[in-house]
Amino acid sequence: MTTESALKQYLIQCQQQVNAALELQLPADSIQPQQLHRAMRYATLNGGKRIRPMLVYAAGAALGVEPEQLDGPACAVELIHAYSLIHDDLPAMDDDDLRRGRPTCHKAFDEATAILAGDALQTLAFKVLCKDEVSPFAPHIRLEMLETLAHASGSRGMAGGQALDLAAVGRQIDLAQLENMHIHKTGALIHASVKLGCLAATKAEPAQTRQLEHYANCIGLAFQVQDDILDVEGDTATLGKTQGKDQANGKPTYPSLIGLKGAKELAQNLRQDALASLSELDERADPLRWLADYIVNRDV
Ligand code: IPE
Ligand code: IPE
Ligand code: MG
Ligand code: MG
Ligand code: MG
Repeated sequence: MTTESALKQYLIQCQQQVNAALELQLPADSIQPQQLHRAMRYATLNGGKRIRPMLVYAAGAALGVEPEQLDGPACAVELIHAYSLIHDDLPAMDDDDLRRGRPTCHKAFDEATAILAGDALQTLAFKVLCKDEVSPFAPHIRLEMLETLAHASGSRGMAGGQALDLAAVGRQIDLAQLENMHIHKTGALIHASVKLGCLAATKAEPAQTRQLEHYANCIGLAFQVQDDILDVEGDTATLGKTQGKDQANGKPTYPSLIGLKGAKELAQNLRQDALASLSELDERADPLRWLADYIVNRDV
């Protein structure tokens, strides 16, 4: 099997697994308040690459954890991600109308419902991590997972990065500030995804965890660099979100600071660095290797 088809198969397998788990965790839209539950399901079960859940499964697999054990953490990161996208698209933030090829949540419903759907997805993420059926870990591990996800989502992680992003609109920032912003708004949740997989592996060596966390930091930044690149040279139909919005919104990005060529070189260097940090891991880490390639070579 070629690497490309192995990756494709792995992506589909992880997507199916997390989608089935998400379907079970999200409240049915027949339950009151129906509009809110419809919006939560709309924003979560509408495609999406499911990169963060894949990283949970792949990091766990690298350390010998079976995927069935990781549905809780995989769902939890994706629920946080879905919430972050709903809020990111609101008029007060990026003001986007299109997400995953469909109207954004506040367009399909209304702003108040979208805000509440984001709020409720966020708390659902933590509830799912507490559930024994999908997060079958010792209490102290579960607590560490909760802290990891809370830290990565909050003001010292994703939400903090979003605050930096909004504060930078229309302003000149330097490369160090841009990197700091990207590490927080996107890198933090990607780092948490890998760390959740590591935490599930109770017999992981500290050195292995450190290597995986370095991998996560590299691909976390690379992921947002590629997102910035696609905003410039992707197309709306493929992306499922409006191309060119960063420039239109006055957002500093890697292409705007160092040019497209520089941004592409940086993404490839980060990929190399990520792969190098896996060098001591055996073939069980292959999905992580495929994902590092995918993150910087994707067109969506
Ligand atoms: C988009 O994330 C937002 C960023 C953090 C760059 P993804 O590119 O993972 O979006 P989906 O989940 O596949 O739609
Ligand atoms: C989004 O970054 C980061 C988070 C949602 C936390 P972007 O604003 O660049 O993501 P897209 O391009 O709208 O998906
Ligand atoms: Mg944004
Ligand atoms: Mg956005
Ligand atoms: Mg973007």
